[in-house]
Amino acid sequence: MSPLEAMRRAIELSRRAHPHPNPRVGAVILDADGRLLAEGFHLHPGEPHAERAALAALDGPPPPGATMVVTLEPCSHHGRTPPCTEAILESRIEKVIVGAVDPDPRNRGVGIDILRSAGVEVVTGVAADEVEAADPAYFHHRRTGRPLVTLKTAMTLDGQTAAVDGTSQWITGEEARADAHRLRAESDAVLVGAATLRADDPALTVRLPGYDGPQPVGVVIAGRQPLPREARLWSRPDTLVLSSRSHDVGVEVIPVPEGDDGLPEPEAALRALADRGLLAVLVEGGATIAAALWRSGLVDRGVTYVGSLVAGGSGRGVMAGEWRTFADARRAEITDIRRVGEDVRLDWRPVRESADHD
Ligand SMILES: NC(=O)c1ccc[n+]([C@@H]2O[C@H](COP(=O)([O-])OP(=O)(O)OC[C@H]3O[C@@H](n4cnc5c(N)ncnc54)[C@H](OP(=O)(O)O)[C@@H]3O)[C@@H](O)[C@H]2O)c1
Repeated sequence: MSPLEAMRRAIELSRRAHPHPNPRVGAVILDADGRLLAEGFHLHPGEPHAERAALAALDGPPPPGATMVVTLEPCSHHGRTPPCTEAILESRIEKVIVGAVDPDPRNRGVGIDILRSAGVEVVTGVAADEVEAADPAYFHHRRTGRPLVTLKTAMTLDGQTAAVDGTSQWITGEEARADAHRLRAESDAVLVGAATLRADDPALTVRLPGYDGPQPVGVVIAGRQPLPREARLWSRPDTLVLSSRSHDVGVEVIPVPEGDDGLPEPEAALRALADRGLLAVLVEGGATIAAALWRSGLVDRGVTYVGSLVAGGSGRGVMAGEWRTFADARRAEITDIRRVGEDVRLDWRPVRESADHD
């Protein structure tokens, strides 16, 4: 195996777990001839990190000339488990190939320095972009303190998300709707506004045949009005409500400071989710919450499904409120276009005007 092939294998391993707030990390150990000896990945917080898991999978100590290939810089600090740099030094592995430098300020470069100072040869930057693409929410969170927010919408070919009376089923076909469930499966949390909860009583779960991975946490951002006493989300014990007021609905209510409009302040609400370890947040509506997040510069990625349907008039748009003048619009980069059944999926991200946001 070449170092690049080994790194790609380690990335594949890293994708098997959902260890947020920790990073997804995979590691493989090769012998001096590049043969695969062992592999490991970090499954859950508190469980061994990928480097330790790979070392534990070896039959005894690593042979002379062995190399560890790991997707992220080994950690150097004591968390729930001891530092991986210690495990590597104890194992006497002589060479470590690192994918991406850890963006976590507690580690950034320190892990690599510790290994180098102890005489370990360290190569960095192998497929770093691919490593980041396998866990973008971790990198984003460590750089900004915020979760990675993906705005998902389904609209008609003429840009409508629902009719005036609120009906919208279904704008897209079965395959696009299944694809949207895969988006949920990649997320730590799925967030909706209080009005969507009242109108649709959504379950916000992944419902795909054969899916047995973790369910994203359902999150409601509540406003000035009371929440309904009965809702499907209240039967899920991990559901979270973000609010500046008190609500007695049987699930945890996270207090969020109020903005001038008397509503929860969007950035504080998102940071509260990241503080709970929810690093990848999928926003599923409605248009009022979508607009509040967009106008606060908090949407990091968009996934827009364009259904093969023409509304033929204006009903409801993707974002509530007026588009007053052209200059208020912002550029987005379309990063992917895919046909999903009879519909189209567009992936995009806003073009950032300053380096303040990642
Ligand atoms: N076609 C689709 O894909 C789709 C997806 C989702 C929803 N929908 C539809 O969209 C409709 C609901 O959308 P919506 O735009 O009316 O409401 P929404 O975005 O679901 O919820 C808005 C509500 O969230 C609360 N809120 C909390 N913090 C806020 C903040 N910082 N800024 C603004 N609001 C905040 C307020 O609750 P209070 O009212 O309590 O003050 C506000 O009225 C429903 O009819 C639903 O069926 C369609």
